[in-house]
Amino acid sequence: MHPDLVFRSAAVFDGTGADPQVMDIGVTEDRISHLGAVPAGKHEMNAEGLALAPGFIDTHGHDDGAYLRHPDMTFKLSQGVTTVVNGNCGFSAIPAAANTDWRRANGGILAGLQGDFTDLEGYFNAVLAKAPAINNMMLVGHNTVRSLVMGEAQSAPTASQLAEMRAHVRRAMEQGACGFSSGLIYKPGRYSDTEEVAALAEEAKVTQGLYTTHMRNEGDRLLEAVDEALRIGATAGVHTHISHHKAAGEPNWGKVTESLQRIEAALAEGQQVSLDVYPYTAGSGRMIEYFNLQNINQDLARVIRLASCPAFRAYEGRMLVDIAAEEGRDLAELVHSILTAPRGDQTLCIQFLIDEKDIQTNLRWRDMMVGSDGIPNLKGKPHPRLYGTFPRILSRYVREQGILSLQEAIRRMTSLSATTFGLIDRGQIREGHFADLVLFDPKDIRDEATYDEPQKLASGIHTVVVNGSIAFQLGEHRHAGSGQMLRYRRDAFPK
Ligand code: ZN
Ligand code: CU
Repeated sequence: MHPDLVFRSAAVFDGTGADPQVMDIGVTEDRISHLGAVPAGKHEMNAEGLALAPGFIDTHGHDDGAYLRHPDMTFKLSQGVTTVVNGNCGFSAIPAAANTDWRRANGGILAGLQGDFTDLEGYFNAVLAKAPAINNMMLVGHNTVRSLVMGEAQSAPTASQLAEMRAHVRRAMEQGACGFSSGLIYKPGRYSDTEEVAALAEEAKVTQGLYTTHMRNEGDRLLEAVDEALRIGATAGVHTHISHHKAAGEPNWGKVTESLQRIEAALAEGQQVSLDVYPYTAGSGRMIEYFNLQNINQDLARVIRLASCPAFRAYEGRMLVDIAAEEGRDLAELVHSILTAPRGDQTLCIQFLIDEKDIQTNLRWRDMMVGSDGIPNLKGKPHPRLYGTFPRILSRYVREQGILSLQEAIRRMTSLSATTFGLIDRGQIREGHFADLVLFDPKDIRDEATYDEPQKLASGIHTVVVNGSIAFQLGEHRHAGSGQMLRYRRDAFPK
């Protein structure tokens, strides 16, 4: 049988962390059909000198709405990413009411989200109708569920509200979500106590899914927040995954070491725990979440740069301190005026709060995965992690700093994340696996996205294959539209 697509003489990194082997790989329909001795294919590619790996898996995305607004998903596809886990930090496309005010429901980070779906299957149908370029795996988010059932209430749920929230989580799990996510730093998640979150996380157990969390605190009380996350996972009896592990704010730098020790201790006791990190010293999010308007934190304001600012487009890409100096204004007053302007609550910012050494410590930890945490709002100057995360790991931390070997970095970004997030037959180059592949030049792969030019595509990515179709090649989007809606440890939707 002749394969549809053949890569000749590629250095094949199979995703398990094994050393690369130069060989031929054949793809037939949506699967890897041949390894080694491959007969002539309909489409032959000379891959000599290039590396072939399983498509990268972004364990932490906020692309729920982007699959609808930007189904080309260029910002991920062009990095070699073939699957994104979405619904993170407690915000997910689903569940939704029939008359949802989308902006309110998702905290403003799920840009582009709209439609008449109410549950995961409805959302999957809406996305599939757009023929997305890459695969999507979803989490169901606590903040979204809580807003739907309790609005902006700051109280604990009543028994019937809790039952209603549990039913939403369970339904999403039954429809194929890989887990339940929380964002306990955000509204309304921050109003919930540990018991509420544990009760809802318990619903992920029906399918042995995950509890993922943007913890209650990533700064002064990081370690207490880690303890809470571990307690929630232990109480609920589910795998705990800590998102974008970091220690924010200079006084806290270095704490990731202690945090990882706590995770080691939990693992030693038999608890299932995992983590991801993004390779940048700045975070990003909705600015209004970080400030108390009655008492503006000037230290925080000093390290902030504006990403997207609908009220004052001219401020995009600039540090608040520079704007304040140029306009001769008080920093706190500037923050206040931005956040209280019309649509000021939609301002996205970038906060330089992380130590480079902590990124290295994280990446040295044996099973650290990679999640971009990119926010797909393409207006203004988004955080460069949206376009650059995966090539940056391979250029900066593998090639330049030597913190990881290439095969180990690939393992963390493919088979490890596929196993953790329940992606069936993905994450390895193996006969019978789905043909999600990235062909790249290991000597040249590099993130080009910077804070000033965040939408520059990475270099060194040659070809990206999604479910057997060439989706991206030599800088050109091929509009294959071959992405699938994945279900946790099950076949893709619909089937
Ligand atoms: Zn987060
Ligand atoms: Cu996030």
